[in-house]
Amino acid sequence: MSKLDVVLRSARLILRPLKPADAGAVFATYSDAEVVRYWSGEPWTDIARAVEYIEGGSRDIADGSAMRLGVELADSGAWIGQVSLHRFDAQNRRCELGYALMRAHWGHGYIGEALGALLGFGFDSLELNRVEADIDPRNAASRRAVERLGFKEEGLLRERWLVGGEVCDTVFYGLLRSDWLARR
Ligand SMILES: CC(C)(COP(=O)(O)OP(=O)(O)OC[C@H]1O[C@@H](n2cnc3c(N)ncnc32)[C@H](O)[C@@H]1OP(=O)(O)O)[C@@H](O)C(=O)NCCC(=O)NCCS
Repeated sequence: MSKLDVVLRSARLILRPLKPADAGAVFATYSDAEVVRYWSGEPWTDIARAVEYIEGGSRDIADGSAMRLGVELADSGAWIGQVSLHRFDAQNRRCELGYALMRAHWGHGYIGEALGALLGFGFDSLELNRVEADIDPRNAASRRAVERLGFKEEGLLRERWLVGGEVCDTVFYGLLRSDWLARR
């Protein structure tokens, strides 16, 4: 079994690999223009995208190239979003962080809880040394979420993305293993 094929738990949440039955919820998340506002892509218009996304997630976990976990509420089992560690660089023990929640579940502090569990797994079990986050500078909620976890702002990359004809900058954040351990 791949070392990325795991189920993680926090006080209110369960993080687990995506499954085919999640397609409707995944599509509902990424077809919402508000959710993908600061993302490097346009809103999805076809549920086939969600099916491909879930299949790709399973392949990536199996071959160890990325770890995308669905986040569900522990008490109801409702799917509320996803978090990921991807773009692994084994030599340098680093990867990138990704996350999105359905809009109905914003504002409850779920993302800090989910990412806390994911980062704990990344530093403890995957022995990462560094995790990076690539965020649109206008995405205040996302910046605040990683800052609360101890990520440090490391620099501005100008016009890094072209999304639907709009050029977008990136503010790059990094969290080191030493930062993470110092907060325990
Ligand atoms: C990023 C995201 C997961 C944050 O989820 P959330 O439920 O809003 O997160 P929280 O409720 O924990 O809020 C995080 C912090 O941002 C603050 N915040 C939320 N919305 C904000 C806004 N519009 N402006 C300024 N601050 C905001 C919150 O007050 C909180 O700060 P605090 O801890 O000091 O109170 C969610 O907004 C989302 O899914 N966005 C779409 C996908 C996305 O952009 N992903 C990241 C790509 S880099």
